[in-house]
Amino acid sequence: MREMTLKNDLLLRAAQGLPVERTPVWVMRQAGRVLPEYRAIRARAGSFIDLVRNPEMACEVTIQPVDLLNVDAAIIFSDILVIPEALGLPYLMDEGTGPRFPRTISTEADVIALSTSDISGKLGYVTDAIKLVKKELNDKVPLIGFAGAPWTIFCYMIEGKGSKEFSKARRMLMENPSLAHRLLTVITDATIEYLLAQIKSGANLVQVFDSWAGVLSPSLYTEFSIPYLNRIAQQITQVPLTIFGKGAWFALREIADLPCQIVGLDWHVRADYARGIAGDKRCLQGNLDPAVLYGNFDQVRKSTQEMLKSFGPQRHIANLGHGVYPDTDPDKLRCFIDTVQSFQH
Ligand code: CP3
Repeated sequence: MREMTLKNDLLLRAAQGLPVERTPVWVMRQAGRVLPEYRAIRARAGSFIDLVRNPEMACEVTIQPVDLLNVDAAIIFSDILVIPEALGLPYLMDEGTGPRFPRTISTEADVIALSTSDISGKLGYVTDAIKLVKKELNDKVPLIGFAGAPWTIFCYMIEGKGSKEFSKARRMLMENPSLAHRLLTVITDATIEYLLAQIKSGANLVQVFDSWAGVLSPSLYTEFSIPYLNRIAQQITQVPLTIFGKGAWFALREIADLPCQIVGLDWHVRADYARGIAGDKRCLQGNLDPAVLYGNFDQVRKSTQEMLKSFGPQRHIANLGHGVYPDTDPDKLRCFIDTVQSFQH
């Protein structure tokens, strides 16, 4: 692992199982969803995609939660959908309805037509943003890089938009498993190149989001997600790696057995159950139900304290069980963060 010179390295110590004075905390989707200050910059940028492609503005938005929420880590402002875009499937972000791909993958010819060369060059705007953030943060807190898991990116490339069950993507697993494996391999290669470029540019930890893990059965998850996560984990040796499988409680053992350092948990999983499976070899991240932040301050404090007790003082990174909901009161988010940072085990 790379040597650490950070002023606040709680996240990296917890990730590696080293002792911490208190539990570190950051929040999935902390950059962008709830801060009014984000909306101001987004309005200046024009659209979400313009903002993602503008390193100076992406840098500003990345640092906002560090300054305004006092989190123990920054996460680079970008999106998981930049990988399909770099592969030749551009996305649009429709106001209020989420991402949409004008072109999708359905045949072998579509997979062959993907442009697999120079992924890190095409995503130079992300690595440029990472370099700016590193300079700006001046080692105050670590910077998290990220990518989507191959299965989750596959879902968007086949389906072309968000979906409750991604039945079109799952249909391909049944009708043409060899083509599915071929596409997953292309996505995995691109993702490894991209994550390594993020690390080279200064990311101190990387997280892989398998946001649609939960639409697969256990056996299909074993066949179509785990091997590709394993390939990624085998290649990421320079910094700690988090695997977050949303809805993947059924695959917790397989995820914990991957050569990653941190296992991300959604709010359906009990801490003792996860510890029982992951043992002492992994750090756990999560997992307050983001809906708790709709409660009053007492409820937020009480639920956060319960969560901290259930995970114990070491090998835990506090977070929500999924991204913060966009209509959350930022003061409730602050209450969550402050409660973690002032908690004595
Ligand atoms: O965590 C952070 O704050 C860093 C930034 C980040 C964004 N997207 C910015 C964003 C991260 C880590 C992501 C990851 C992402 N993107 C995931 C995995 C995490 C998860 O939530 O499961 C997924 C599935 C996506 C795809 C995506 N991007 C969707 C479905 C949407 C639309 C609705 C929404 O907000 O989730 C986006 C758009 C998006 N990505 C926004 C932001 C701030 C909102 C766009 C806007 O500003 O209008």
